[in-house]
Amino acid sequence: MAKVTNSYCISEGSKKETNHYVISLRGSGIRYKPGDSLGFYPINSMKLVKQTIRKIKAKRKDIVETSETGKVTLEYALLNRFIINRAGKKFLVAVAEKLTNKKLKKEVEEILNDKDKTEKYLFTRDYIDILDEYYVRFSPQEFVDNLAPISPRLYSISSSPKAHPGEVHLTVAIVKYNNFERDRYGLATGDLATRIEVNKTKIPVYISQTRDFVIPEDKSTDIIMVGPGTGIAPFRAFLEHRRATEASGKNWLFFGEVHEKSTFFYKDEWLEYMKEGYLEKLTTAFSRDQEKKIYVQNRLLSNGKEIWKWLQNGAYFYICGDKQYMAKDVHKALISIAEEHGKMKTEDAEHYINQTLMKEEHRYLRDVY
Ligand SMILES: Cc1cc2nc3c(=O)[nH]c(=O)nc-3n(C[C@H](O)[C@H](O)[C@H](O)COP(=O)(O)OP(=O)(O)OC[C@H]3O[C@@H](n4cnc5c(N)ncnc54)[C@H](O)[C@@H]3O)c2cc1C
Ligand SMILES: NC(=O)c1ccc[n+]([C@@H]2O[C@H](COP(=O)([O-])OP(=O)(O)OC[C@H]3O[C@@H](n4cnc5c(N)ncnc54)[C@H](OP(=O)(O)O)[C@@H]3O)[C@@H](O)[C@H]2O)c1
Repeated sequence: MAKVTNSYCISEGSKKETNHYVISLRGSGIRYKPGDSLGFYPINSMKLVKQTIRKIKAKRKDIVETSETGKVTLEYALLNRFIINRAGKKFLVAVAEKLTNKKLKKEVEEILNDKDKTEKYLFTRDYIDILDEYYVRFSPQEFVDNLAPISPRLYSISSSPKAHPGEVHLTVAIVKYNNFERDRYGLATGDLATRIEVNKTKIPVYISQTRDFVIPEDKSTDIIMVGPGTGIAPFRAFLEHRRATEASGKNWLFFGEVHEKSTFFYKDEWLEYMKEGYLEKLTTAFSRDQEKKIYVQNRLLSNGKEIWKWLQNGAYFYICGDKQYMAKDVHKALISIAEEHGKMKTEDAEHYINQTLMKEEHRYLRDVY
């Protein structure tokens, strides 16, 4: 159990909420290195627990028994052990089985018979929404039997223990949205955004060690870091560490966010590092500050010649952040750079990036989610 000792917003003036958290590890004996992540076990919001209990017409002190919890109150189980902010397929199947109205039963079965429809339906709903549309009676025990247990969430650590002994810092994008006229939060990010009282709240955490996403042992090696959004987190740790260990290798940071004014995370720290000579280059891509979107991969391509030079000189290349789109696009940009500036055919460029750089030389490292 670790105390949260500071929490503040780093996206002031933006519609997005991204927060910086400082968590104390003092006295725990827990150690970490730059590149590691922090695992955090969240709990649900009490408001949602109460609404859900009301929806199934149960009482908070009703007793349920599960292999995860033993005998506990329904309120305890829903608050601490089961996901209730997003619905699962198992519950929808149970609803279909229980429905007696033929038309409604058919409707739910049609959703369940199509994978895309099921995904789309469940993506925007929690259990209250489903029961609003298809009310069937669940006993408290039946209800919890159809839920999925809470699993911990990982966050890339954004501090170096050399710069902040006894502390772990996190950079967290709060997942929040409004569906069917109700404000919603992601489970863990909602917990962090709404429950934390600085210097009071303790949260259950553990370190998830990385084997590969590490700073080069040779301090004279140059590094290129691409970290848009919360992808910046481990690179703050890397830079703090390289500064604390007086690493002579050059550091080049690519950062992207929506607006320079509101979401230039840790700007002052980067400018200070540049002044001190620890950050050789800082290249930014603020996607919505102009009509046409500019992303980090556009900046990589326009700096292709120099990136290629750094890579030929032994630089490591790191990516952190969104896996679904950004990491794939940055990967493609890297291949284009090898094609254009390494004068390689597409196949050779692909082989160089995927095989040589990534698998043989272990100089292309990713922490994407
Ligand atoms: C190795 C690793 C490192 C990570 N590092 C970081 C980090 O440094 N910072 C960080 O912020 N995150 C990081 N993450 C992501 C983090 O672990 C969580 O996945 C994230 O914070 C969301 O968790 P949650 O419990 O709040 O949301 P959940 O309750 O799990 O819900 C998230 C889901 O909500 C859905 N959703 C989003 N918007 C909507 C909408 N409008 N309507 C319906 N559904 C929606 C999304 O599809 C998403 O699947 C990392 C993940 C990994 C694996
Ligand atoms: N499942 C999804 O659809 C999805 C998408 C993105 C992020 N996420 C998740 O949302 C969480 C928070 O994200 P975040 O706040 O860290 O930042 P983010 O949403 O990843 O955004 C950071 C910056 O990256 C830009 N971006 C969007 N698409 C890009 C692409 N294909 N290539 C390069 N840059 C791109 C964004 O621009 P614009 O927003 O202006 O386009 C923004 O300027 C993370 O957990 C992330 O994995 C999920």
